[in-house]
Amino acid sequence: MAGCLGSKPAEPSNKAYVIGFSQVGSESDWRVANTKSMEATFANDPQYEFLMENARQEQENQFTAVRRFILEGVDFIIIAPTVEEGWQTILEEIKDAGIPVIIMDRSVAVDDDSLYLTNIGSDFLGQGNLAVKWLEGEIPADKEAKILHLQGTLGATAQIMRTKALEDAVAIHSNWEITSQLYGDFTEAKAYEVMTEYLKTNKDINVLYSENDNMTFGAMRALNEAGITYGNGGQVKIITFDATKEALQYCHDGKINLCVECNPMFGPQIKELIEKYRKGEPIPKQVHVNESAYTTQSITQDFVNSREY
Ligand code: AHR
Repeated sequence: MAGCLGSKPAEPSNKAYVIGFSQVGSESDWRVANTKSMEATFANDPQYEFLMENARQEQENQFTAVRRFILEGVDFIIIAPTVEEGWQTILEEIKDAGIPVIIMDRSVAVDDDSLYLTNIGSDFLGQGNLAVKWLEGEIPADKEAKILHLQGTLGATAQIMRTKALEDAVAIHSNWEITSQLYGDFTEAKAYEVMTEYLKTNKDINVLYSENDNMTFGAMRALNEAGITYGNGGQVKIITFDATKEALQYCHDGKINLCVECNPMFGPQIKELIEKYRKGEPIPKQVHVNESAYTTQSITQDFVNSREY
């Protein structure tokens, strides 16, 4: 039986609390780690029943999953939205059904933020700002930055904010230029495809700003095949987002210059928020997870080895 949004629900004591989770997809190593964190948090706890639907990066699939959760009468819904727009109606449907919602990872653009309890995830603009700050230190005022920009899923908060940070920085640096914006959809395969095509006719770049690690891996393959060097001492400085174990290893080995962390391991934090809600305790409207950034100079092999994802 669903509780009333915004108030402490009345619950039967022995029944498992049913959570329906609509996940974006499995487009990246980050996403796989995020799914594992959620599953590991709830799967072995008899107090919870955890139902997850993979939307394969389609918002329509998320709507279908959420409507199914409503019909099944779940107690709680968690949504990792593919894109920000388009959520008003379905969130109203969830509210009408009296089911509380957490928005996780990315955000939703709705008129009324009382349609969800809280939004937990990364400070994506903060991540982008970390990246451009680092680049400022790398490009002297008398040198040009010719930046190739690989973008993730258009309309997703991670894309919107990382792009905003770069575009704002380019607007105030007369020696910075975005040579092109290529659409990589946060996947390695797409990034490899668009990079391969681009590099056939354009090789004059010295920075790659890639909005996630998997696109970076695809781009590195394309750069290798085009005979373009990258990383420390190479033609192209690589900035990547997520800081997965594989990317951190490349960073340690001098192949990636900057890894900006995007922490996917917040399943336990979500559980804490749900438990607070169930006890009737207040929860903050926005929760940002802890994140950092790593360079070849700052990272150790021990740190890479200890990385969970
Ligand atoms: O929303 C988080 C982003 O989505 C991660 O950077 C990316 O890897 C994932 O697919």
